[in-house]
Amino acid sequence: MTWNPLKIGKYTIPLPIVQGGMGVGLSWDQLAGTVSSCGALGTISAVGTGYYEKGRYAKLVNGRPLRPENLNSPEALKMIFKKARMICGQAPLACNILYALNNYGQIVQDACEAGANMIVTGAGLPLDLPEFTKGYPDVALVPIVSSSRALNIICKRWLKRYNRLPDAIVLEGPLSGGHLGFSKEQIVDPAYKLEQLLPDVVATRNEFGDFPIIAAGGIWTHEDITGLLALGADGVQLATRFIGTFECDASMAQKQALIDATPADIAIIDSPVGHPGRALHSELFKRIEREQAPKIACISNCVAPCQQGMGARKVGFCIADRLSDTQFATDPTLGLYFTGAYGYRIEKLERVKHVIASLVGDKA
Ligand SMILES: Cc1cc2nc3c(=O)[nH]c(=O)nc-3n(C[C@H](O)[C@H](O)[C@H](O)COP(=O)(O)O)c2cc1C
Repeated sequence: MTWNPLKIGKYTIPLPIVQGGMGVGLSWDQLAGTVSSCGALGTISAVGTGYYEKGRYAKLVNGRPLRPENLNSPEALKMIFKKARMICGQAPLACNILYALNNYGQIVQDACEAGANMIVTGAGLPLDLPEFTKGYPDVALVPIVSSSRALNIICKRWLKRYNRLPDAIVLEGPLSGGHLGFSKEQIVDPAYKLEQLLPDVVATRNEFGDFPIIAAGGIWTHEDITGLLALGADGVQLATRFIGTFECDASMAQKQALIDATPADIAIIDSPVGHPGRALHSELFKRIEREQAPKIACISNCVAPCQQGMGARKVGFCIADRLSDTQFATDPTLGLYFTGAYGYRIEKLERVKHVIASLVGDKA
């Protein structure tokens, strides 16, 4: 079966493969730029850019970006796009921005200014996303959903308020990494498998239009992709597999942790964002159990659902501080290591172009 290119808004991506956004600091210029240069779609994460290049674009207090405007620095985001463009030229680049972020609307505008061709948003329903891209008609809008119900709500609201539909959607299934749009019971319920959700989402999309559906969560091989395209997906999104590349912007601590991981190390955790998440059961969680977790200071005030540290105190850790420690701290044992369900399948680092070649089915 030959694969069709992926058309999102006015952009054509030669391969129907998207690299999913990974904050804080895993999918910046090197990973996203390289993926886009290979004919797939690279996604830059706008979250935690205040840590970029040792925090030179942000105001830090005790090594932490002060308030949301420094955690998600517009200057750093511009620089990340500029450097990614040095790798991929004018090939399309997406920007991933969590809806739960305190200064969401501002970051969407910053991303448009920085040259993002698409805005991809999950961790909440982005019902007002079109509001923030009004001056940028070419920027494509791509919400992430976990159900046909969520898609239905977004389409109805966007049609009524803005007279427009999404340019594509990502359907994230329960094997994804990071935050999940499912309850803990749904995550293990076969009725919520990606392959089960997809036909329903295709039917809902057909009621509204013909924008592409990008399936995500636990995709690893050429055969996985072929199977999902046969079920009606127009493209796929992979994140975890790209952590196992030389070009991924993640720290060596994160890459090595996945190389060393076994299936038993991967767990579902509670997060201050208010959704369950998938991560390694790392030293951080052992410290929380021993009541020796790092202090929660809430200097960055990252996500609205946490209510300035209340959510963090409930689950025992600050999401922004712990995710950034995985990438930038001298003591990565304090870090939170997000991973998809198949993170243990990474055995060694590869080049992005080899990962993409194997996804496409090149045997060489
Ligand atoms: C380390 C890590 C960080 C992630 N961070 C984000 C994020 O900041 N925003 C987001 O929308 N999705 C995030 N995700 C989800 C991915 O973009 C992707 O949709 C999902 O992980 C796909 O499943 P896979 O990892 O099995 O390929 C993250 C995933 C991982 C593994």
